[in-house]
Amino acid sequence: MDDAEIARIRADMAYEFSRTAPPEGFPKFHDIAVERHTSEAFYQLEQEHIWAKSWVIAGREDDIAEPGDYFQMKDLGVPLLVVRGTDGEIRCFYNTCQHRGAPVVRDERGSSRRLRCQYHSWTYEIDGGTLVSLPDERDFVDLDWTARCLPKAQCDTFAGFIFINRDRFAPPLMDWLGQATELFAPFSDGNLREIYRESITVPCNWKVTAEAFLEVYHFRHIHSHDGVSTLDNRGAAMGLYPNGHSRMITPYSQQRLKALGMKSWDDWFVPDQSPFPVVESLGAGEASMIASTSTAVSLFPNMIVPFGVVGFPINYFWPIDKSTTRLDWVYYAPKDWEGDEDDVDDALPDHWQSLRTHYNRIMEEDRLNMAPMQESLESPALTGIPINYQERRIWHFHEQIDRMIGASRVPDGLAVRPLLHDYLL
Ligand code: FES
Ligand SMILES: [Fe+2]
Repeated sequence: MDDAEIARIRADMAYEFSRTAPPEGFPKFHDIAVERHTSEAFYQLEQEHIWAKSWVIAGREDDIAEPGDYFQMKDLGVPLLVVRGTDGEIRCFYNTCQHRGAPVVRDERGSSRRLRCQYHSWTYEIDGGTLVSLPDERDFVDLDWTARCLPKAQCDTFAGFIFINRDRFAPPLMDWLGQATELFAPFSDGNLREIYRESITVPCNWKVTAEAFLEVYHFRHIHSHDGVSTLDNRGAAMGLYPNGHSRMITPYSQQRLKALGMKSWDDWFVPDQSPFPVVESLGAGEASMIASTSTAVSLFPNMIVPFGVVGFPINYFWPIDKSTTRLDWVYYAPKDWEGDEDDVDDALPDHWQSLRTHYNRIMEEDRLNMAPMQESLESPALTGIPINYQERRIWHFHEQIDRMIGASRVPDGLAVRPLLHDYLL
């Protein structure tokens, strides 16, 4: 992120503190229809037009460092396989043998120069998924081998992360991310490692989980500890990017400023972070902003990253069905201890354990609302969802959902009117 963008964020924060109403001319939102979170038909439209067409993170490039290394990816509800080819390229195939559909690999991760289905030994090469051998060919009449390659999904990488997209006609990853890439300098640190991961399943629609991280209107009400809130939501500077992505930079509260020795919300500096190593890929301006605010980025549809100068969790929302979501969070940072690389929980040092406990506590505070909110969404008591100016990232997120589904397909009464196009960065 360059200095001009950082200056803009400072100016936006000052403006947000000073205003007494939404900006002049800001649109009035209609209520968001409750059924967007409860309708099976709407969920199926999302599956078809969002989850089958969006770029999502599947893992890290160093998860499959050597030719032939692979891992399975089942988070999109279909069996996929990400593999590094003999040419070093990373590709994504469906883990679906084109004979009778058995998985071509059964291990969650492994290494193999050929993908040999364990059922009847049809065998595919890993650079193109081409079918290269099968037993008893004489017993198939006119088998067209070229029509029996492993189906592919799109695969690309950004800053060490592997993204996949089931839609072979989707725009390139970098077009999809667009200007939002300016926010991802912390991804580029060559020493990043997975520090720990958590996973919970929550009985609510996936959007209930995502929306919890798109505003800080709730922050001091559910995340205050001993009467102290870390953040001051009134100064939050939001940025809306194309394709539903967004960011939210929220200044610290007065109590937090005092505790850190900062004079005011814009007195940005990097405090002593010991005993943690600092992410080295951050520029000085970004580091001081991230150290002195809450800096959170959302990539549509299912990823929220609250950055820190010592590392960051990636929160992922994976729909399981219309009323069930898996919420994963994986913390990445420059790893500063020796341990078993394959066992990320191996001897987590005390400073990382206390960071994990702290972050998990915040996640638990958010989780507590999710199942009861879904119950309310499915009861007759809630007739519509009014969204305020501070919550506009939620509106932006819903606009993108409708854009991808296509206005003509959104069921009557469920559409979110596109109102924010003039407010994009
Ligand atoms: S299902 Fe794979 S070889 Fe038969
Ligand atoms: Fe929260």
